[in-house]
Amino acid sequence: MKQKLFDAALNARANAYAPYSGYKVGAAVLSPTGEVFAGCNVENEVYPLGQCAERVAIQALVASGETRFEALILVTENGATPCGACRQVMAEFGAPKSVVYIANKDGVIRETSVGELLPDAFSRE
Ligand code: THU
Repeated sequence: MKQKLFDAALNARANAYAPYSGYKVGAAVLSPTGEVFAGCNVENEVYPLGQCAERVAIQALVASGETRFEALILVTENGATPCGACRQVMAEFGAPKSVVYIANKDGVIRETSVGELLPDAFSRE
């Protein structure tokens, strides 16, 4: 499953629209029923409108009718970790124990979790 997620994110990364930063990102999430949804970063000339790959993948999951993911993978050139905004969105749709794989172009370099990446995530409760 890790390989399936990696392949989906790597393929999505090839479609990243990143003419402003030049930094291509791919992501994929695994639904509770075993479906994989991928995303890439989609930038805009109005810079703040740019979307991160993780959130694009999560939005595809939600559009399919799911509201939870079990695992997420992020693929970048150099194995970067998710930005703070994406961590909060991951906390909304993942559980603290949901796995997060950090990968570079060659494969997974770190295995962590939503709770480890964002302890004390905001919640009204
Ligand atoms: N980016 C992501 O897609 N995910 C992250 O977690 C951090 C950054 C994108 C946003 C922008 O298009 C590019 O990477 C450079 O910041």
